[in-house]
Amino acid sequence: MALNLTEKECAPGGDAGRGSWGSSFGFIMAAAGSAVGLGNIWGFPMQVGKGGGAVFVLLYLVCVVFVCFPILVAELALGRASARDPIGAFQVTRPGTPWWLAGALGVTAGVGILSFYSVIAGWTLAYVWYSFTGAAGQNPGAFFVAFVADGGKNVLLSFGVLVITAAIILGGVRQGIEKAAKVMMPALFLLLVLLGVRALFLPGAAEGLAYYLKPDFSEIANISVLNAALGQAFFSLSLGMGAMITYGSYLSKKTNGVKSAGWVAGLDTCVALLAGFVIFPAGFSIVGFNPAEGGPGLIFAVLPSLFAAMPGGALFGVAFFVLLSLAALTSAISLLEVPTAALVDRGWCRRKAVLLMAGLVALMAVPSVLSQGAVSWLTKVPGTGMDFLSLMATVWNNWALPIGGLLISVFVGWVWGADKAVAELQAEGNSFPGARLWVFLIRYVSPLAILFVIIMTARGMYAG
Ligand code: TRP
Repeated sequence: MALNLTEKECAPGGDAGRGSWGSSFGFIMAAAGSAVGLGNIWGFPMQVGKGGGAVFVLLYLVCVVFVCFPILVAELALGRASARDPIGAFQVTRPGTPWWLAGALGVTAGVGILSFYSVIAGWTLAYVWYSFTGAAGQNPGAFFVAFVADGGKNVLLSFGVLVITAAIILGGVRQGIEKAAKVMMPALFLLLVLLGVRALFLPGAAEGLAYYLKPDFSEIANISVLNAALGQAFFSLSLGMGAMITYGSYLSKKTNGVKSAGWVAGLDTCVALLAGFVIFPAGFSIVGFNPAEGGPGLIFAVLPSLFAAMPGGALFGVAFFVLLSLAALTSAISLLEVPTAALVDRGWCRRKAVLLMAGLVALMAVPSVLSQGAVSWLTKVPGTGMDFLSLMATVWNNWALPIGGLLISVFVGWVWGADKAVAELQAEGNSFPGARLWVFLIRYVSPLAILFVIIMTARGMYAG
């Protein structure tokens, strides 16, 4: 009997074959959940700080509209047309060619990114507790350094993140991912708006807003700022590794793919912009705050002192880190779903696929955890000058994602065919306004812009 049940649960794909979204709203929440993550609330304000404020924001918006949105549409179209994981999507549309390797790169990147993403997500979980107790508030900088150096505690935290993530996607596409996103994302938006309103009444609000919103145009021609803006937009929209191919593969033909993509990109951008409205007023209300000294410190080592000092700060702090944890979890879900889907589409049952991939990621997370001060050679990996976690972030974010994005845009624009993608998106009478503009962007603008960034990254590496 028990054995029977196991076998049944282990039918390939679980619910309704490989799974599908229950509604357009559910899909938008899940895809926005993937996009909205640490990249928006932790990464975006940090990059704005490094990139000199409002000019970065402007360049970021240009990158989202002209380079990244077209790729988001391309990934969704390819996923929906093939109804396969990223490897299968290339195999089905161009059988017998090596293009599937582009999908394999993405699947590998999913495992690699989650291996360090789960570590940072673990920090956010711990800080929910620390803001409640006020433990981090007295000397937040030193507290953060000591906290991340505690290897045992952080191994447990990142494993905890992976266990929650795995538990959700074990439920399948509709009963697991979609259900969780439909609760977590509205909660996240609500918290963010409340925090934004509260932050505007902090003593440093005016100064912070000026920094955030007034562009200093002397920076606009700064190539490294443009480079950072495109990289950030890419990561924030979960592009370049087939996460959106995978989520697109669960879409029904009735859903308007372009409109949904608009919602996803719009929500993601709004959350990033709103996060700036929380972080900068908050930061500037701390004496001696320097946004350019961003790094992980911006959130973990700076804000807790504010929470400790302001009236109702514990509540503000807990709400902030709950928000960050929700954002991180819905993104972790999409990162684990990509390698899971790759196995499910090769005949594995979902349960075995989830457990194997989560276990693999957990093993790979250990060196990232220990690189934060616990083990000295991981803290400065020989030959790189970086700690292992930063090395992972660099390899996957700065190399694998742009290369993956370049391959996807070339494939959809030229190889599979932009016309096929347009036809796919117009199936069932769905409208695709600006289809011709999209074809131009995906064929020329996106690939050239990404190529430019890859070259600049390579040059930056040799220069520095
Ligand atoms: N977009 C998420 C963030 O902003 C991270 C993420 C989730 C991601 N899935 C991805 C990035 C796939 C690249 C590819 O934090």
